[in-house]
Amino acid sequence: MVLERSELAENALQCLHDEAYDAPYNLQNLNHETLLFVGGRTAENLDGAWNFCVDLLDTGLRQKWFEMTPADPEERIEPYDYDPYMGEQVVIPSNWQMLKEKWYFFEGSAWYTRPLDVEALKADERKFLRIGAAQYDCKVFLNGEFLGNHYGGSTPFCVELTGKLREGRNWLMLCVNNTRTTDRVPMRNTDWFNYGGVYREVELYTTPKTVIRDLFVRLVPDGTYSAIAIDATLDGPDALGAQIEIQIPDLGINTVIASSQDGLASAEIKVSPDLWSPSNPRLYDVIARLGEDEVRDRVGFRQIEQIGAGLFLNGKPLFLRGISVHEDDMEKGKVTTEEDLRRRFGHARDLNCNFLRLAHYPHHEKAARIADELGFLLWEEIPVYWAIDFENPATFRDAQNQLIELIKRDRNRASVIIWSVGNENPDTDARLDFMRRLAETAKQYDPTRLTSAACLINHAKKKIEDRLSNFIDVIGINEYYGWYEENFEDLVEIGVNSSPDKPVVISETGADADISATGPARGLFSEAYQTEVYEKQIATLRALDYVKGISPWILYDFRVERRQNIFQQGRNKKGLIAGDKATKKEAFHKLSAFYAEKREEGEQ
Ligand code: GCU
Repeated sequence: MVLERSELAENALQCLHDEAYDAPYNLQNLNHETLLFVGGRTAENLDGAWNFCVDLLDTGLRQKWFEMTPADPEERIEPYDYDPYMGEQVVIPSNWQMLKEKWYFFEGSAWYTRPLDVEALKADERKFLRIGAAQYDCKVFLNGEFLGNHYGGSTPFCVELTGKLREGRNWLMLCVNNTRTTDRVPMRNTDWFNYGGVYREVELYTTPKTVIRDLFVRLVPDGTYSAIAIDATLDGPDALGAQIEIQIPDLGINTVIASSQDGLASAEIKVSPDLWSPSNPRLYDVIARLGEDEVRDRVGFRQIEQIGAGLFLNGKPLFLRGISVHEDDMEKGKVTTEEDLRRRFGHARDLNCNFLRLAHYPHHEKAARIADELGFLLWEEIPVYWAIDFENPATFRDAQNQLIELIKRDRNRASVIIWSVGNENPDTDARLDFMRRLAETAKQYDPTRLTSAACLINHAKKKIEDRLSNFIDVIGINEYYGWYEENFEDLVEIGVNSSPDKPVVISETGADADISATGPARGLFSEAYQTEVYEKQIATLRALDYVKGISPWILYDFRVERRQNIFQQGRNKKGLIAGDKATKKEAFHKLSAFYAEKREEGEQ
């Protein structure tokens, strides 16, 4: 008697002939619109051990592993290729490449599975799952049901579980895919390592039925420093016409704001806060209540402006003494800890910096919170990097969503002054339109900050000239005279030829230096040569009055697949500190001395 094959077993056979198997699982419905404001909320942390399996051929989606139910192996009556409820485990947050040698270059899908035990949900409660970041596509399944997926490797996303969770044991499955493709953001070629996995915190939030979905608090940027603006987005059956209570105790604010018909509650309050700045990182507790729901944040009030070719913080001239940083660690990969961040800011302080360029994607949200606390200014960026598929509407939607997610996540952070919409993109019409619309999106979601992008010099004209500069506030320029560009004198000529009408930040410059025992004593990749490049760059840039900031490339050596010469061996060695995040190179001290002088000039 031939056993009647189960539907699942039948499907497992059929899926061998179905290359459209993944279409139902790419809704990208988990996006900036489904984010939940989590400041001050109590979270149930779901980090730790999850069952894990790499899945190079997407067999899990083809065979619907997520529809399998737990069973003892002896009880199973049909063959199967993976049992999500047993087997190897990994601890998250993590990048799988850092966990086992056999996964170092693995690129594809991987499955994470864990039980989720919940008490009976009360009628007036809602449950939200929040994933801090998963690289790149993350599909969420609960008890065998596909709930949605998120595109973008460095921004948080939420999925509501209300009505999907059952009392007692549930099973949560994530399918994370880090395959590089030409239509993703970034696309398939980057100068940083393509880490994969769930590498920031996973949390479960329980809220009342009506919630404060978003909260944006800031100084009104009208140059009077005498009013703050609050916008809250309310969501739930009682949102319309509800009243939200706002308290900022240290400013004597305790007020109520009524929401309008579309669930928005907005107000401007006359008050003159102690202004936030790197030298005075003053933060205020903000409490917002809506019935049973309460969220909190710590907000600094300040104004950043671009006026002509100048930058101004709270009305005073500003020069950005910066350094660029990646999220990268010899042991942890792209996982960032608080200790790692505080070390980063400590080294930036040693460099006499007041500014960091968080390249080339949204960094961990703790970075901006710590910068708020310590007094650093930040450039935050989405990975519209090099040759993006600028003609593709789906690619634009992906980039725009990542930008809005970043802005919604960090727009209460005083330290963040610049939203960057990309890096080193070719000057084509399609790119111009794509990035202009991104710059407009940034202003739409946050009119209080400046926009920028890391552009390239117009080598043909030997000028700082990029059509995108008409649509951004600050012109970022990546230039590598002394390294990729051999005629250093050209930089002097460019400096003289250029007369930009907006502030320029040299968003990258630098040179590799291998300071290991096998590094060269002189010439390319030597410490001596890196030092020479920094000396010449500093001498040239300090003479250009329209240069209002510098963030050399880069604080630490970092991992990258494409660099395999004997001095780099899988790492970019332009760091001012080696990959051990401790050994400073000679050029570190050159930059530190220059910034100490700049600081004495008094531009904050
Ligand atoms: C480019 C790019 C960086 C890269 C650097 C380099 O400017 O923006 O991501 O790492 O140059 O070549 O080292």
